[in-house]
Amino acid sequence: MKYEKEICRRKSFAIISHPDAGKTTLTEKFLLFGGAIQTAGAVKSNKIKKHATSDFMEIERQRGISVATSVMSFEYKDFLINLLDTPGHKDFAEDTYRTLSAVDSVILVVDSVNGVEAQTRRLMEVCRMRDTPVIVFINKMDRDGKNRFDLLEEIENELHISLHPMTWPINSGKEFKGVYNLHDRNLRLFTASTKADEEDIVAIDDLQDALLETKIGKRDADQLREDVELIEGVYGALDAEDYLTAKVAPVFFGSAVNNFGVKEMLDTFIRIAPVPRSRETSKRLVEVGEDKFSGFIFKIHANLDPKHRDRIAFMRVCSGRFERNKYYHHVRNDKDMRFSNPYTFLARTKDVIEDAYPGDVVGLFDTGNFKIGDTLTEGEDFFFTGIPTFSPEIFKELVNKDPLKTKQLEKGISQLTDEGVAQLFTQFGGNKKIIGCVGDLQFEVIQYRLLHEYGAACEFRTLQFYKACWLTSTVAGKLDDFLRFKQQNAAVDKDGNPVYLAQSEWFLNTEITNNPDITFHFSSEIHK
Ligand code: G4P
Repeated sequence: MKYEKEICRRKSFAIISHPDAGKTTLTEKFLLFGGAIQTAGAVKSNKIKKHATSDFMEIERQRGISVATSVMSFEYKDFLINLLDTPGHKDFAEDTYRTLSAVDSVILVVDSVNGVEAQTRRLMEVCRMRDTPVIVFINKMDRDGKNRFDLLEEIENELHISLHPMTWPINSGKEFKGVYNLHDRNLRLFTASTKADEEDIVAIDDLQDALLETKIGKRDADQLREDVELIEGVYGALDAEDYLTAKVAPVFFGSAVNNFGVKEMLDTFIRIAPVPRSRETSKRLVEVGEDKFSGFIFKIHANLDPKHRDRIAFMRVCSGRFERNKYYHHVRNDKDMRFSNPYTFLARTKDVIEDAYPGDVVGLFDTGNFKIGDTLTEGEDFFFTGIPTFSPEIFKELVNKDPLKTKQLEKGISQLTDEGVAQLFTQFGGNKKIIGCVGDLQFEVIQYRLLHEYGAACEFRTLQFYKACWLTSTVAGKLDDFLRFKQQNAAVDKDGNPVYLAQSEWFLNTEITNNPDITFHFSSEIHK
């Protein structure tokens, strides 16, 4: 492999969690270990604060900040780690799903008090679709949380993954004394605001060692012995291959805000997490070690200055070496492009780069050439697959308020949907434009941006749809008949794929039962 050395030292991943579980805090601790920042509090929360949910300009401003923290690259023990940030706000969940298509693994943070929450479930579904390897960090052990065995059971049952504890906690809340590392066989004692000094760690290979009692007392020592015997009987040793194939998720317990249990996880992460891997495309498997460059766009961020319609397209490098000022082939547009100012994201600064390797994320200035899912190559025609679109949850009809600005409205809505702000459907056999979003906020964003960036005024009319399903059929004529018959509920997406818009779960289930020759898909890949 020509670029083996560079590929094998890269680990690209995302931290995902339900808001408030501790993603930002954990990110900050990772950056501290990587030396990318020097002091705690340096990472701006990408979380959109609760009080700001009605003020979307504030949200966009915060999203502006988040461009700088979209990717945080740092070096740790000879590895180059690319940490891709994901927005916490549920209305931007689509952004997160797409970001997950650009990473090789994830760390899932679960709050030990709240356990599995709504966002955690949805995010894990996306990970499962792609068999993304997952490490679980159970956070906030310094608070009185759920019983740890119950918590493991809850996570396994609700997220449909098998867990494998790597550390085991001694109590929680005020009684929290630390964790026993089942792999390295040592005890790490908890002190609030620990700096993770080595001296906090006591090697205890044999749990019968009396040293254990002097460290944590007889009652807790006995409990730990009992717990560990049970765990080791059930789980045995971790098979790294099971983790890499997403069959098993290693679990760590800790407290991010106290920097406790974080280093153990980071050290295990660099040891077992996958390096960039080969990826499927519409034509063939692209090997990560191929000499020729290829990559895809997974996120587009608009510049907020209405005078400059520039956008930043985030590209994941999948094979070969990306070079500044070299011409690459934009497959969808069948056009060659070169980039004079591509940048990467080292720590909190953006740096223009000369080259990038698989696993890296490069920011490209874009004047409207890209849409999510676009592929760049050295000439070959293929698209990377596995970049899904999910059903929106809220549907509204787009109503043009100024017929003289129809062109501007169409251009605007086309560009905004390219960016992935919302999904656009057109009524089957008609002109009605239906916008689908995950959250109400996006409608405000669209209305504001159409007016300020494109000079087009619009309003929205609520539609009573509950879900969009993409339709396929192998029986000739069935689909056309269905679409004609169900015209009120039929539409095409932006790429012309037929879609059924269901009013309710009952209607959806009825149609599924009544139409066995038609398959109803709950997600659509942008390029199949
Ligand atoms: P998020 O990005 O997942 O949304 O969560 P974030 O890191 O912002 O953490 C949410 C809150 O939980 C923060 O408190 C943070 O300090 C706290 N937190 C994180 N890790 C731990 C932990 O291990 N133990 C305890 N007890 N708390 C933890 P906040 O009051 O919302 O914000 P702040 O004012 O402390 O920044």
